[in-house]
Amino acid sequence: MLCSVLKGVGGYLPTSVLTNDDLSRTMDTSDTWIRRRTGIGERHIAAPEECTSDLAVYAAQRVFKAAGISPEAIDLVLVATVSPDRTFPSTAALVQGKLGITRGMAFDVNAACSGFLYAITLADALLKQRQATCALVIGAETFSRLLDWSDRTTAPLFGDGAGAVILKAEEHSAPAGILSSCLYADGSQWEILYTDGGPSLNQRTGVTRMQGREVFRQAIEKMLESIRYLLVQADISLDEIAWIIPHQANARIIESIAERLSFPIERVLVTVDRHANTSAASIPLAIVEGFESGKLAFGQHVLYTSIGAGLTWGASLMRL
Ligand code: UT7
Repeated sequence: MLCSVLKGVGGYLPTSVLTNDDLSRTMDTSDTWIRRRTGIGERHIAAPEECTSDLAVYAAQRVFKAAGISPEAIDLVLVATVSPDRTFPSTAALVQGKLGITRGMAFDVNAACSGFLYAITLADALLKQRQATCALVIGAETFSRLLDWSDRTTAPLFGDGAGAVILKAEEHSAPAGILSSCLYADGSQWEILYTDGGPSLNQRTGVTRMQGREVFRQAIEKMLESIRYLLVQADISLDEIAWIIPHQANARIIESIAERLSFPIERVLVTVDRHANTSAASIPLAIVEGFESGKLAFGQHVLYTSIGAGLTWGASLMRL
């Protein structure tokens, strides 16, 4: 059977680190409040001259090295982002160009914090339909550019970064790679998390506005719902899942999901303490860290889940 198999991962975090104490010098907040309510300790912030495509290219260069695959093999570039360099062309096209790739498809996926899940699910479908053979899928954000730095209810929560994976279509005798995915959206709820600008709306980029408590409540409910649905759809039990790799928005959301599933928190990857919420980059960056720390190993079943603006949400099961 034709499978979409993970060939490698690579990540990039900008060098500049902004701590909670740094933030507390410019706004009415504290390290204690941010840690207690979110689990976040610090976040990386892109340099002024660094764009989302630059972060994405750094992550891509690392995944090429890790996977032993060269850019010439890529015939699908997907960049999941809500902080594109430009309104057009897509950041994926810019990344493709910077990597010297001149064939196949390249386009962006905008599903906010669920962008990476949407993008790997789309790549999986295109690979299995033989529309492409080798996909570079990147979640990349300069989310710091979408923040109102005087708003303590949003600015401390987000960070910048990029994570990349290569998915390759391969014939296997048993199921491998992406085994099952479910994606959802409910556009009637867009107003609980959005930017107040856009090219058509007011010719500005805008900044993030969020009803934090409502997003928090829905995040737990919807990620749980996705995980439960996926387990049934894939006919697999939680005991067979080595790691849950959730979107990293708030440690309390992650802990609550683990608790409600009776899933050991020790088998949930957590990076929010050091990365904050990097939106579409959060899951691939967690995968990178999981491999680097030796927690993740090929052959394991891992379960991704996410929620983001839209609302968008979903889950995906992968045999690494
Ligand atoms: O990627 C998906 C998108 N994002 C999320 O999943 C985020 C979901 N939401 C959350 O993580 C949490 O709701 C927040 C971290 C955003 C807020 O935490 P909370 O425990 O729900 O706090 P709250 O909004 O209920 O606010 C409680 C108090 C308020 O003060 P008053 O009105 O009670 O006097 C806020 O003004 O905490 C205040 N507050 C802060 N205080 C110090 C809000 N932000 C801060 C802050 N520092 N940074």
